[in-house]
Amino acid sequence: MAPEITLARAPLHVRHGSNIGQPLTRRDGVLKVTGRARYAADNHPAGTLYAVLAVSSIARGRVTFLDVQAAKGHPGVVDVMTHDNRPPLAEDPDAKTNPFMFRLDLLQNDQVRYANQPIAVVIAETLEAATEGAALLSPQYEAQPPRVGLDASESFVPPSVGIGNPPRVQRGDVEAALATSSRRIDATYETPVQYHNAMEPHAIVAAWDGDALSIDTPSQGLALAQGRIAGLFGISPEKIHIRSPFLGGGFGSKGLISGPQVLGIMAARLVGRPVKLVLRREQMYGPVGHRAPTRQRLRIGADRDGRLTAIDHHVKTASSTFDDFFEPAADISHTLYASPAIATSHEAVRIDTGTPMFMRAPGEATGSIALESAIDEAAQACGMDPLAFRLKNYAEVEPISGKPFSSKALRDCYAQGAERFGWSRRPLAARQMRDEAGFLVGWGLGTATFPALMFQAEARAVVRSDGSGLMETGAHDMGQGASTALAQIAADGLGLELEQVEFRTGTSDLPDAGIAGGSAHTATAGMAIHNAGAAVIAKLADLATGDERSPLFGAGNAGVVARGGRLFRRDDEGRSESYAAILGRAGLTEIEARGKSAADPTAQSIYAMYAHGAVFAEVRVDPDLGQIRPTRVVGAFAAGRVINPRLVRSQLFGGMIWGVSFALHEHAVIDRRSGRTLNANLAEYHVPVNADVPSLEALMSDEHDPHVNALGIKGVGEIGITGTAGAVANAVWHATGIRVRRFPIRIDDLAMPASD
Ligand code: MOS
Repeated sequence: MAPEITLARAPLHVRHGSNIGQPLTRRDGVLKVTGRARYAADNHPAGTLYAVLAVSSIARGRVTFLDVQAAKGHPGVVDVMTHDNRPPLAEDPDAKTNPFMFRLDLLQNDQVRYANQPIAVVIAETLEAATEGAALLSPQYEAQPPRVGLDASESFVPPSVGIGNPPRVQRGDVEAALATSSRRIDATYETPVQYHNAMEPHAIVAAWDGDALSIDTPSQGLALAQGRIAGLFGISPEKIHIRSPFLGGGFGSKGLISGPQVLGIMAARLVGRPVKLVLRREQMYGPVGHRAPTRQRLRIGADRDGRLTAIDHHVKTASSTFDDFFEPAADISHTLYASPAIATSHEAVRIDTGTPMFMRAPGEATGSIALESAIDEAAQACGMDPLAFRLKNYAEVEPISGKPFSSKALRDCYAQGAERFGWSRRPLAARQMRDEAGFLVGWGLGTATFPALMFQAEARAVVRSDGSGLMETGAHDMGQGASTALAQIAADGLGLELEQVEFRTGTSDLPDAGIAGGSAHTATAGMAIHNAGAAVIAKLADLATGDERSPLFGAGNAGVVARGGRLFRRDDEGRSESYAAILGRAGLTEIEARGKSAADPTAQSIYAMYAHGAVFAEVRVDPDLGQIRPTRVVGAFAAGRVINPRLVRSQLFGGMIWGVSFALHEHAVIDRRSGRTLNANLAEYHVPVNADVPSLEALMSDEHDPHVNALGIKGVGEIGITGTAGAVANAVWHATGIRVRRFPIRIDDLAMPASD
């Protein structure tokens, strides 16, 4: 048994519970629904010009001609930025000094590396003039045939997958185990190119004042963006002020500053005026990242009793010709099922595409739909119910590392979800259930998992002499509700009511809140806030307990409790003093402290940290037309301490809807001849609308995991996709008896024998 880690880091004098755990509505909700929330492109400093990108219509080759004169001659056009006249940069956009740095297309030459690559920027007095000017550029190209798809070039083993994960991981002898397994499956699954499609496109308003730069732009990582821009323009990060109070979705594509955003800054430098640049929807399909396609071969072995003996998960994926991001889709197979032999491996090709990036649950989403389908096929090969099979095989400890993790929570999720869904009434065989209208009904299951990550962050806490509080950290609210949940943590950390706390966030001059990614933002920024609050309260307690005029004199630092703007003696709550009185007597207008957060390496060396869940889905399939309607999805999740149940449910729903979308809707169709995305718009790239969304239920186990961080916070942003996508696919099999292994599942995949 691994040793228990005690909660020694939790400050004893702070009591939690009055704000944390409350199902508050979003504090910025009214601003949003009344249109008063100011998104990046809503800003318009005096004298702002409009910039419009011209993008490449070929996927490989070079630009041989741009009619710059025609564009410049158009009324209202101020300038045209091409690789001939763009302002110099202090850093090569193709340099890469760390894995979080992506190579950018900043008009460095005439080369075209993918369709929709920026090739010029037209800057004009009006959006219309800039748009018309861009159309007049009439580019000519020297085109080469594009390399498209997973078989377009020679494959290789990438040096790492995701951000720094090993491409191959192995435990036990998978080949030997497969050879002696009495039940085996060997199946290949394919997932398509997907695009982030945030409602708010990438946008920037950039204004230079000498060598100081002021920017409005959506960002999931203000400090990283600031650092990258500082490097590219050769100025110090303090000279750059970024405002990003609201994001209309990000899903990973706004985690790092993108090429088009930097082009907006370059355009502003070129013309010496503020510039606004907003991507058109179709321009999002290229320079700002996507989810790479995968082809995944899963070989699974089991013994006669339905116990797993081997899992071999091999993934082929694609990256761009000029940069490295490899979708880590096989990694999910080392975390979920307790097979004595497990091997995961990745290979990749380079194709003429924009560089893929993290897209909500990168690797976990793609890997999950394949693994959960394959586990279902293995259960079927063993003649077992898919839940019984998973209950027999889920991991008690993380299989690949042997570290303990919250397997009890996963067992609870299976039990709760199955009960709520009514799983015990599921017939084992496929094509057994029909509804009143004669539609085929199927029930499917998928296991959900996502790592509980933490990055580094900092926060600044202030208590003022009027008894109010201030908490500052540059966090990012992409719509998930961060500014509400983090304010709840701030209020508890300061021992104040929410209304008494001013929460400042969303700008780069505040302490770094870490990247809003990896479902780690609440844990990362939240722990910095918690620690800052504890630090400032500790200073207040020092002032009071060391002052013989205070009723708390002599109570000692660990002997007080902070609540409702007062400090109380722990052993005698009748003796207390308000923050205002403590500061007033000390002659201080305010007192401040900083707090930091980071993952605890000791805990991480002992425990494997994940959120878990189990998702149950029902679909109805028209036996004549093959049309699929998901009707019911029930997910049970254990994701640590729930800071705000309303927001967490909403996050889980968002993920579950994305899971439905993964199984049934999303698919960027790439033209083999041109390398262009044929459906680069929201009409033909299908994302679910309300009518596509089934009845959803997200049950939350209140899980106490003291090891992830002192508040026990895990993430909920991405886990909902995992499990759900596979559950829907498995339900389609159960309804129809047809196992579709290429996603999304389409009507023509379900050409069925005539219904009886
Ligand atoms: Mo996410 S893909 O970690 O924004």
